[in-house]
Amino acid sequence: MRGSPCLPWLLVLSISLVLGAQPLPPQDLEEEDDEEEASRSPATRCDYDPCRHLQVPCKELQRAGPTACLCPGLSSPALPPHPPRLGEVQVMAQESNAVVHWCAPFSPVDQYWLLLWPGGKGTPQRGPPLNSTFRRAELRKLTPGGAYVVCVVAVNGAGESGLPGGAGPAFGPCGYFTMPPRPQTLVNAAIGVGTALALLSCSALVWHFCLRDRWGCPRRARRAAPNPPEL
Ligand SMILES: *[C@@H]1O[C@H](CO)[C@@H](O)[C@H](O)[C@H]1NC(C)=O
Repeated sequence: MRGSPCLPWLLVLSISLVLGAQPLPPQDLEEEDDEEEASRSPATRCDYDPCRHLQVPCKELQRAGPTACLCPGLSSPALPPHPPRLGEVQVMAQESNAVVHWCAPFSPVDQYWLLLWPGGKGTPQRGPPLNSTFRRAELRKLTPGGAYVVCVVAVNGAGESGLPGGAGPAFGPCGYFTMPPRPQTLVNAAIGVGTALALLSCSALVWHFCLRDRWGCPRRARRAAPNPPEL
């Protein structure tokens, strides 16, 4: 009985130790930039998906919405945007096209454009400017069997988002893809192989019958022999 008052104390002590040892939950780390707004109101985040095509910019949602909402983590418009993040590149071999998807950075963006390096080197081709709601674009007239590096650049009044330095463009705003050979080429190849096989078997048959004719077929010889008269 004497030990019982001690137990709850131990429990409380150990619980507080455990809690004390834990780092603070990472609540709203992204919201540093919007601290004022966050502390002013219990408003929710705006219905904003950085990867959604034709997504209205968060700041415009904030302006237009009936209730206040938050755009946490948005960088300053006085700085060039952070790089967007390249997503999936869908290759459409039949049309020699590819559709590039990306996600917006948490920065004010006025425009995007794509840079395309055929063969992965040399001077890039720059695509047309796309407004800030775009999250995908189509690349046309790609070469079947060709290899490409594509990067997406975000632009605002303060400048352009950067590209990864060096020759390692396989992440962040850039990606690498290859076009498969045109399906027509594969069909032609299949027809070619098929024809070759057919010709081979034909010539094998012809040889077979020619040889049989020349050397005399035992079966035909048997059939040619007069049948014994039936009684
Ligand atoms: C962006 O472009 C799309 C498609 O061309 C268009 O519907 C939309 O109104 C444009 N948005 C802005 C903000 O210019």
